[in-house]
Amino acid sequence: MEKSGGKRVRVLDRDFVLMLSEEEILARVDAVAKEINNEFLGSNPLLLIMLNGAFMFASDLVKRITIPCEISFVKLTSYSGTASTGKVQELIGMNGDITGRNIVIVEDIVDSGLTMQKMGSLLEELGPKRVAICSLFVKRGALQVPITVDFAGFEIGNEFIVGYGLDYNQQGRNLRDLYVVEGNK
Ligand code: IMP
Ligand code: MG
Repeated sequence: MEKSGGKRVRVLDRDFVLMLSEEEILARVDAVAKEINNEFLGSNPLLLIMLNGAFMFASDLVKRITIPCEISFVKLTSYSGTASTGKVQELIGMNGDITGRNIVIVEDIVDSGLTMQKMGSLLEELGPKRVAICSLFVKRGALQVPITVDFAGFEIGNEFIVGYGLDYNQQGRNLRDLYVVEGNK
């Protein structure tokens, strides 16, 4: 998907080249929003926005959601537990009862799928009717666990991307277009 001779940007120690313009991204966001509007009409879904990466995507997506819905921002934090529990992941920002509700997780990118698998299992404990996953990017062939991305924006190769909310060591989230690392890592 790399465009030769395209616009470049340097983030920290790496050079990135333009992969998708804001305009191209928005055209796809429009289509994804329409799919969600059709699928959840009449069911007042709760959109769970995954911080930090999905903030820009979510902002453009929810402006195109025309059905009644609710929006909440969540974060999966991880900290070191005891030697026996190892790394513990905790979901913060969930409030209210989701029993029997349709949930749409809004994520920036699915790579191994471990983050979405963890989210799925944490949410299932709360008794929702359905948990759907909406991710702007999905890395082709990178899934290590069996999860389904119900609403996907773009399938990309196994390459590192930055911009439009996605970061490289916390930098580059503010770029309005999407860039791919030059020389593939
Ligand atoms: P997973 O748990 O392996 O699916 O990883 C998902 C998370 O890794 C995303 O929410 C991103 O925060 C991060 N991530 C994976 N690939 C990229 C990338 O190419 N650029 C920026 N962040 C990425
Ligand atoms: Mg993320």
